[in-house]
Amino acid sequence: MDLDLTQGSALVTGAANGIGLAIAEQFARDGCALHLWDHSPTVTQVARNISDQFSVAVTATRVDVSVETEVNEAVRQVVDSDLPSVNYVVHAAAVGSGRFGFPFTNLKPTDWVKPLQVNMMGMVHVAHAIAPLFVSQGGGSFVFIGSVAGQVGSQTDPPYSATKAANLNFMQCMAKDLAKHRVRVNMVCPGMVKTELNQAVWQSWLRQQGDAQAMSYEEWAEEKILALIPLGRWQTAEDVANAVLFLSSERAGQITGQIINVDGGYVMHW
Ligand SMILES: NC(=O)c1ccc[n+]([C@@H]2O[C@H](COP(=O)([O-])OP(=O)(O)OC[C@H]3O[C@@H](n4cnc5c(N)ncnc54)[C@H](O)[C@@H]3O)[C@@H](O)[C@H]2O)c1
Repeated sequence: MDLDLTQGSALVTGAANGIGLAIAEQFARDGCALHLWDHSPTVTQVARNISDQFSVAVTATRVDVSVETEVNEAVRQVVDSDLPSVNYVVHAAAVGSGRFGFPFTNLKPTDWVKPLQVNMMGMVHVAHAIAPLFVSQGGGSFVFIGSVAGQVGSQTDPPYSATKAANLNFMQCMAKDLAKHRVRVNMVCPGMVKTELNQAVWQSWLRQQGDAQAMSYEEWAEEKILALIPLGRWQTAEDVANAVLFLSSERAGQITGQIINVDGGYVMHW
């Protein structure tokens, strides 16, 4: 399917690794110019690699999405750049609490602060900085990367799950507010994708186990996947990117305020 994404440029946050990186590569493969944001310094090299590999214009900005002033400055750089106007924003940057939260009383209230700042306020900062731009240019698409954890009261990491649920709710508010400006707002929720963030969940689980219960990352994931996921296998970052690119494109021109779960059937709504 030709998604015709070459008219504008795409802004991807959390683009230095994992799912954000796969999304950036998929836009580049389709010939779309890119702005990559990440708080990791490796984002600069990632931008060079993508530009060399796919022959598209790519800018890189080190930005911590939890800091409003950094997000606003990064948007100014995007507007001042020579790239075509931003039509697609994909916000993938997020963190877990780094603690195994089952039961939640294992956590301290202070364990909630970082996920709230990065996952919730990060989305708020990106939304506030980009929405006026989309309104003034008469359209645009936001895709937020959520999680199935935000839909099922996942006990693994309650601060992470709760912030992902909040992201989902705010995505719908944004979709209603911005529809009259031809701005669409959607969410893609991955299930289990092999990334640093996913591996960190296993690590925090492992720290709490006795030797008898210890399992490798692969064993732990296989048990979880077979128990929970009807299709019975990992999702890949490219699986997630495919859904993101479709939602970003005009092929999804009548779709707003929606969630696509790329989770092998883990969550089924009716
Ligand atoms: N991997 C999974 O199984 C899974 C499942 C469900 C949802 N998700 C979601 O997918 C998205 C991407 O996660 P991933 O698995 O690729 O993780 P990842 O850790 O591989 O990548 C996250 C990226 O975000 C960046 N980042 C983190 N905090 C930041 C900040 N404050 N400012 C700017 N950049 C920041 C990191 O440097 C990293 O490059 C996240 O929203 C995550 O919640 C992942």
